[in-house]
Amino acid sequence: MTDKVSVTLAINGREHVLSLAPERTLLDVLREDLRATGTRRGCDAGDCGACTVLVDGVPLLSCLSLPVRLGGCDIRTIEDVDASGELHPVQRALIQYGAVQCGFCMSGIVLAAKALLARNPSPTVDEVRHALGGNVCRCSGYARVVEAIASVGGRP
Ligand code: FES
Repeated sequence: MTDKVSVTLAINGREHVLSLAPERTLLDVLREDLRATGTRRGCDAGDCGACTVLVDGVPLLSCLSLPVRLGGCDIRTIEDVDASGELHPVQRALIQYGAVQCGFCMSGIVLAAKALLARNPSPTVDEVRHALGGNVCRCSGYARVVEAIASVGGRP
């Protein structure tokens, strides 16, 4: 058995001091230790994007990320997106466009879209598609998802 290591993670603006086996993933820690279950476990292998979180504003697959390497980083999960009580414009647009089907992929998609809009406030449809290239929707409802996100930047 591997010795545990101590790590301090800043998640959604709050510091968590944790003692972890070094091989545990950020996805494990979020879902199992911190009960932040909005971050989804899809493939658990880096292929689907359901487990996407933002680390210093950049989308990261939490199923492939080791918390012991993320000390000092600003980690944001889907729970942070509407923590103020207001839906994010991306969430509102997805609802307005009827783009949510089973919803399993939505945490990752919302965070990937949020990161895109932070660096490019008015993305083209192609730029939205590219930014969501790592996010698989098992209902295959991509067209409305892309239209909804592009509409947030004023490009319906
Ligand atoms: Fe991480 Fe699929 S669960 S990419």
